[in-house]
Amino acid sequence: MKIFLDTANLDAIKKYNDMGLLDGITTNPSLLAKEGGDPQKTMKEISTIIKGDVSLEVVSTTYDGMIEEGKKLREYGNNVIVKCPMTGDGLRACKSLSVEGIPVNVTLVFSPNQALLAAKAGAKYVSPFIGRLDDIGHTGMDLIKEIKQIFTNYNFKTEILVASVRHPQHVVDAGKIGADVVTLPPAVLEKMLKHTLTDKGLKAFLDDWERLQAENPDLKA
Ligand code: G3P
Repeated sequence: MKIFLDTANLDAIKKYNDMGLLDGITTNPSLLAKEGGDPQKTMKEISTIIKGDVSLEVVSTTYDGMIEEGKKLREYGNNVIVKCPMTGDGLRACKSLSVEGIPVNVTLVFSPNQALLAAKAGAKYVSPFIGRLDDIGHTGMDLIKEIKQIFTNYNFKTEILVASVRHPQHVVDAGKIGADVVTLPPAVLEKMLKHTLTDKGLKAFLDDWERLQAENPDLKA
């Protein structure tokens, strides 16, 4: 399973990239607004830092606008994936950009049929937002199961990119279903690497080493 970071925060991107954990990045206008500054500069920098796929979202809502914007975003790097919204114009733009060799991530997907249409339009990634479905009383992960089944039945190459992830259990569930990618807010990734028994075990090892040092004043680590 690939892990993407769902953020425009450069410090977080560098931190987890240095640990070798990141296969890519996803951003959106809200994540860029959260960081402030010049969004175009930020998107360009992210595309340079990360070698894997970096999803950058268009803000145009028309076909022509999305094509123009998508091509400009792609100039930031060959790893740029153009993120288009799940609309009629978005699917048309997805088809045209994909035919031209510019990969597309279709975002704001909330139903299996939307995912099917994105795959038909040639999307490289489809982004179902599971947390937002949980927020309105649905079980977002059921959507991932349904999309996985449909894509497997018909051998679609479009990758399922699980988005709007809220907690580490979402990642476990997505992995069990066989989703291709999870995109994680930094806080979720941080929680994944922690366990209270790891902290407790490490403290015990260090305390025991300290006792040995007290018995052996010349002992060095
Ligand atoms: O990439 C966008 C998606 O992950 C949105 O997440 O938390 O705003 O529902 P959220």
